[in-house]
Amino acid sequence: MKQPKTAAPIALPPEVKPGQSVELLQELHILTRDGKLNQDSRRKLKQVYHLYQFIEPLLKEVQAEHPGVSLVDHGAGKSYLGFILYDLFFKGLDDGSHIYGIETRAELVERSQELARKFDFPGMSFLPLSVAESTESKELPDRIDIVTALHACNTATDDAIAFALKKKAKFMVLVPCCQAEVASVLRKNKGQSLGKSALTEIWRHPLHTREFGSQVTNVLRCLQLEAHGYQVNVTELVGWEHSMKNELIIASYKNLPRRRPTERLREVLETLGLEEMGNRFFAEQVAASNA
Ligand SMILES: C[S@@+](CC[C@H](N)C(=O)[O-])C[C@H]1O[C@@H](n2cnc3c(N)ncnc32)[C@H](O)[C@@H]1O
Repeated sequence: MKQPKTAAPIALPPEVKPGQSVELLQELHILTRDGKLNQDSRRKLKQVYHLYQFIEPLLKEVQAEHPGVSLVDHGAGKSYLGFILYDLFFKGLDDGSHIYGIETRAELVERSQELARKFDFPGMSFLPLSVAESTESKELPDRIDIVTALHACNTATDDAIAFALKKKAKFMVLVPCCQAEVASVLRKNKGQSLGKSALTEIWRHPLHTREFGSQVTNVLRCLQLEAHGYQVNVTELVGWEHSMKNELIIASYKNLPRRRPTERLREVLETLGLEEMGNRFFAEQVAASNA
């Protein structure tokens, strides 16, 4: 008797990790129906895996302190990061660990909620909120261990930092997107600044204003984190050929002395004529105990 034909198993690309859900990767449109990766999804997967290498030890460090890790992903978009983290790390845990995705676009939130239901991921929630709104939301617990923000647009990264500072998060993993706010203040105050020092040439031309503004934004973010007692590491997410915005900032709370970074933060704001941005890049009141 002839045997019925069975479908040949699909040959998966080497990027798919053992135990990883192929169906989930297909639903996220990272893998095609026949198990292939296109150029764009290969880039996305590479970014998320690269981030995972940094995030996994942080998750383990939190676990060593207490059971139940809480992670908030800001500007989650389609939640590639959240779903892949859940599939690789959270799925097997039974200790109340939870990933929260924060995203303003309701249709993306609904789609992620649907996927979490479909794959029976009870430790995932998605909230249709802005990062700033989530800071006050009662739907999030008081203790958040890790905050991530991957290419969260414009000032959403700054809001994610403010959120993490309020929640006293142990770790932050940030890949900032373009931030236009600092460049706009540099542009507005250019007339007054230009006579002050030859170094103002650094942002005289409009293109340089934009690029320098973006660079300074990340410098101010790092100083702000240090001014709150965090140790900060700045590195590259992936090679320049894959993404133009690939600065990776990892902050770990170590209760480090705050005085010097606080003074530096103030000085940089003053030197660049950015004093009005003091509310955005706020420091802590330095008490003698943590100076
Ligand atoms: C460039 S996408 C990145 C998505 C995802 N993190 C990733 O890397 O695939 C930025 C996302 O942030 C969302 N977003 C922008 N501003 C936001 C805000 N203030 N609060 C919450 N989400 C925001 C946008 O709707 C968008 O989905």
